[in-house]
Amino acid sequence: MTGLVVGGLAAFGLIVAASLSGQAAHAAGKVESSNPITGDKDAIAAGQTTFRARCAPCHGMRANGRGRGLPNSSDLTKFKRGYTKFVYIVKNGGKTMPAYGGLGKLNDDEINQVGAYLETLASRRAKWIDPPAKKSEAQPDVQPVVATAPPEYQAHLDHIQKALGETPGGVGLLAILEQEARIAQQHAAFAVTDLEDYENIRLHTAHVRHAINPAEEHSGAGPGKGYGVARAAKAVIAHMELAAATGDATDKVKAHAAHVISAANNIVFWCYKIVAKANQITGGSSPITQAYYAEEIVERIQWILEGTDADGDGAISWTEGEGGLAQIRQHLGFIGG
Ligand code: HEC
Repeated sequence: MTGLVVGGLAAFGLIVAASLSGQAAHAAGKVESSNPITGDKDAIAAGQTTFRARCAPCHGMRANGRGRGLPNSSDLTKFKRGYTKFVYIVKNGGKTMPAYGGLGKLNDDEINQVGAYLETLASRRAKWIDPPAKKSEAQPDVQPVVATAPPEYQAHLDHIQKALGETPGGVGLLAILEQEARIAQQHAAFAVTDLEDYENIRLHTAHVRHAINPAEEHSGAGPGKGYGVARAAKAVIAHMELAAATGDATDKVKAHAAHVISAANNIVFWCYKIVAKANQITGGSSPITQAYYAEEIVERIQWILEGTDADGDGAISWTEGEGGLAQIRQHLGFIGG
């Protein structure tokens, strides 16, 4: 009997511990979401400010539709319709809900920020991750106020190809990816000018690392733009996934989106390898291996930009281990045409 009680208490303790750690994850904005900037601290803070000014008057300060808000404003902590639908609703409005799309209202970044903030308030059963795309997307039950002329996925492609507020200079993701990769390429070339000058190798390898991933803990200051190849490639993946999940993404769009994602995954992987080698170089690996790794880094940056013929069939495709930035551009071109 006592044994049972003790066992029961222990189990109870486990459950409490598990649910507490679940709450901690929510507080940090860890609810899974297809929002490209989910969990980003600055975005969450900016989103809170926007939410309180623009949305709380109706949805309430806690976003739960209670308080002094407008009656019948939805409880946003229970939002279940996936991130793409969230953006759609915010842009297009509903019967009562105003439309925030369009000039001088909320731009895509601001909407993503509000999303990132709301994700931190999400209840356990909320769903912010996009459902798998359906062929005939059911009409949203809030009536759109503004008709959207271009296909829904175009906005995501534009972030990749044309402009995105969060990049330095607001350029598109491919542009910042290439800028950072070129900086990395230049410094990787400096590093191997004299393979016996180890100080030179270490200095320029640190610069390469900064352009590849400034968020890496050893990165410090550097010549990169502060965004990084790795982050750009991950954001390309996120935006391509969003594009492919929109209701109007055709099979052609989905197929090329998969190819773009595959090539962007290669870039993320190569970035990871470059940073690992760079850490070994600056961390004081033996002089011979430093020179060897520095040359490997030169090669991998080349792959990031041009792709590589990994299977030796005479062509570079988008496949795993082969495609890079050039192949991403090619497949985005197929979607446009
Ligand atoms: C004028 C009041 C008002 C304001 C301001 C407002 N909303 Fe709403 N919102 C509503 C109402 C009412 C609904 C329920 C649908 C309807 O009747 O339009 C709603 C519905 C929604 C939904 C759909 C919820 C679901 O589960 O389907 C989302 C998402 C949403 N609002 C987000 C926002 C965001 C984000 C903002 C701020 C940028 C905002 N709203 C500002 C009144 C408002």
